Amino acid sequence: MVGSRAYEPNRDIYSPNQNISPISSEINESDQLLVGGCQLSQLAKKYGTPLYVIDELSLRTACKTYVHSLKKYYPGESLPLYASKANSSLAICALIASEGFGLDAVSEGELLTALKGGVKGEKIVFHGNNKSRNELNFAYENNVTIVLDNHHDIELLKKIVSEKKEAKLMLRITPGIECHTHEYIRTGHLDSKFGFDPDEVKSVLEELKKYEWASLTGLHAHIGSQIFEVQPHVDLAGVLADTLKFAREIGHPISDLNLGGGLGVKYVQEDNPPTIENWIEVISRAVVKACNDRDLDLPRLMCEPGRSLVANAGITIYEIGAKKAVPGIRTYLSVDGGMSDNPRPITYQSLYSACLVDKPFNSDSEKVTIAGKHCESGDILLKDFSLPTCKSGDLLAVFGTGAYNFSMSSNYNRIPRPATVMVGEGCSDLTQRRELPEDLLQLDVLPDRFITKN
Ligand code: LLP
Repeated sequence: MVGSRAYEPNRDIYSPNQNISPISSEINESDQLLVGGCQLSQLAKKYGTPLYVIDELSLRTACKTYVHSLKKYYPGESLPLYASKANSSLAICALIASEGFGLDAVSEGELLTALKGGVKGEKIVFHGNNKSRNELNFAYENNVTIVLDNHHDIELLKKIVSEKKEAKLMLRITPGIECHTHEYIRTGHLDSKFGFDPDEVKSVLEELKKYEWASLTGLHAHIGSQIFEVQPHVDLAGVLADTLKFAREIGHPISDLNLGGGLGVKYVQEDNPPTIENWIEVISRAVVKACNDRDLDLPRLMCEPGRSLVANAGITIYEIGAKKAVPGIRTYLSVDGGMSDNPRPITYQSLYSACLVDKPFNSDSEKVTIAGKHCESGDILLKDFSLPTCKSGDLLAVFGTGAYNFSMSSNYNRIPRPATVMVGEGCSDLTQRRELPEDLLQLDVLPDRFITKN
């Protein structure tokens, strides 16, 4: 746009997880914030607030960087999968499929969204530590690869599979690797509800040899999320390669090795995650080395990024309403959303960055605390945060909300979910309409005997 400039001048245009704001974020001549060529205040006017905005350029760039880096650093075949739990919608599934990604789903809802969004069953893997029989059947019927997490999965599958078609399977291993992230989002350590314990993996692999219906094509492990170190994934490659060696020796023709997701993103200035390219380089070299050391043919390399694809593509626009100054303590600014559209601060004490949409540089600052509108004192989105002086009616953009915000949203206090728009090259498209209070009543049933008759 003529006369505009980048919002983060030193942004990394290939690795959106390095930047707090979407890579297309710009400031126009009147100092207003634009994303995807759309002025945020105009989007708020057109679609209302709170509003989730996804920058198509950031999302596509992150996908392309994963695909290109895998081609550059991994000499074998590869397939990146989008961990759709980060943000599952038809539009996002269609977009990632068009960039050559497959997808990881953990429920029938995510599977259905992916299939309807155009992701082929053959490129979907189905996870979960307590899959239902219906979910397993749905995955099997749609040629989805099922990730065996425990014995319960195996027992249910025995009842589902027919002689006509084998079930394509991967085996999930708890690798026993610790990493530094919030304990709720750590999954690779031994005390985890996910995957087979390392001690029983060999016997499970032997058991699976007995079943003609079972076609074991891959091994999987995931060690956690929002990880800034790379060493845990290097260690993981070794653990998986040991298992690959054993599995192939006993006759499983395993072609796929899936190292899960976990690459961290920048939410606040202090965050310093590796770039997508660096992360892929490290895991590629680690898998090549681990396989060479064990004399193994290279498997197809899979990884499952979620957050590092969508987090920094997203922002949420809120309107500021009430202001309350508690003298000598703090000033609260309340916005028209909160923990129902972003439960991460109250759940994980997650930090975010924000700015005023029409005064995006935090000069002339006052310290404020951005509170949500829910009946809960802990419903705070940003604590003691510097903003220019602002008033009721001003718009606030919170950055980095593309991952695990909409997907973990709720209707707490019967507050409808925001709409989502995808922006790019000056256009905006609604990809999820706003919920209305009436929508929230649609599933309620009022039995006759409760209706007051007088
Ligand atoms: N693969 C598996 C098996 C996973 O469980 C996950 C995330 C991923 C891939 C993707 O990880 P990512 O690349 O996004 O780090 N709600 C939490 C995050 C939970 C992550 C769960 N599993 C949060 O808001 O931080």
